[in-house]
Amino acid sequence: MRRNIVAGNWKSNQLFSQADELINDIAEKLRNFDSTDVDVIVCPPFPYLELVSDAAEDVEFFVGAQNVSKFDNGAYTGEVSAAMLQSMNIDYCIVGHSERRKYFFETNRDVAEKVDRLLKVDINPIVCVGELLEEREEGRHFDVIRSQVSEGLFHLSKDQITKVILAYEPVWAIGTGKTATKDQAQEMHAFIRGLIADKYSDDVAQDVSILYGGSCNAKNARELFAQPDVDGGLIGGASLKHEDFIEIACSF
Ligand code: 13P
Repeated sequence: MRRNIVAGNWKSNQLFSQADELINDIAEKLRNFDSTDVDVIVCPPFPYLELVSDAAEDVEFFVGAQNVSKFDNGAYTGEVSAAMLQSMNIDYCIVGHSERRKYFFETNRDVAEKVDRLLKVDINPIVCVGELLEEREEGRHFDVIRSQVSEGLFHLSKDQITKVILAYEPVWAIGTGKTATKDQAQEMHAFIRGLIADKYSDDVAQDVSILYGGSCNAKNARELFAQPDVDGGLIGGASLKHEDFIEIACSF
């Protein structure tokens, strides 16, 4: 059965001392947290993975990276391989975030390759999909999401796809304060689940967690998470404020 998940994507934020303070505050709040209903994941920048992993040792939360190389270990200056993440016991890794698609020209094919690298070393990919504002305005949002999901993931086996978490992040909602309405989120999440059901089976589709991301905050999380196909959130800005992040994690 799929899990509820709240994942914090710190993006390229926080200096070391700020990251230290933030994760200590989060860990403190999570110390007495009942994690029966939700898995909490924190995804800091690469240099802070060890810091966050250390904090996760005696508190119940998981650690994720924000990106992974599509190459194996080797002469790829500046890259971080899946094997390196595995060697640090990283549990999850975000793939295909719209900021990586926009600024680093990542394609659906890159997403597929990165997902393969991660699954090979038992790291669960958190695969982001989402349409641009003009794509929605032109009524192409379902086509865009269909391509991103099928080209990024539909080479996987049944067993592999259930290890993937999807995150629907409409690009127009990211960092803008323009959250998707609960109906817009539910409509797209149900569409994504339907794609998985068509390709694999209903049972498989019911096992895949689909998170919403894009100006999700402590005020709107409860309403979004109450939708039947919204299994939690991928949180940007609000994950940098420990009180807001924890409140979001308590929104089921
Ligand atoms: P915001 O929550 O800041 O809109 O960012 C969402 C996001 O991109 C998470 O990956």
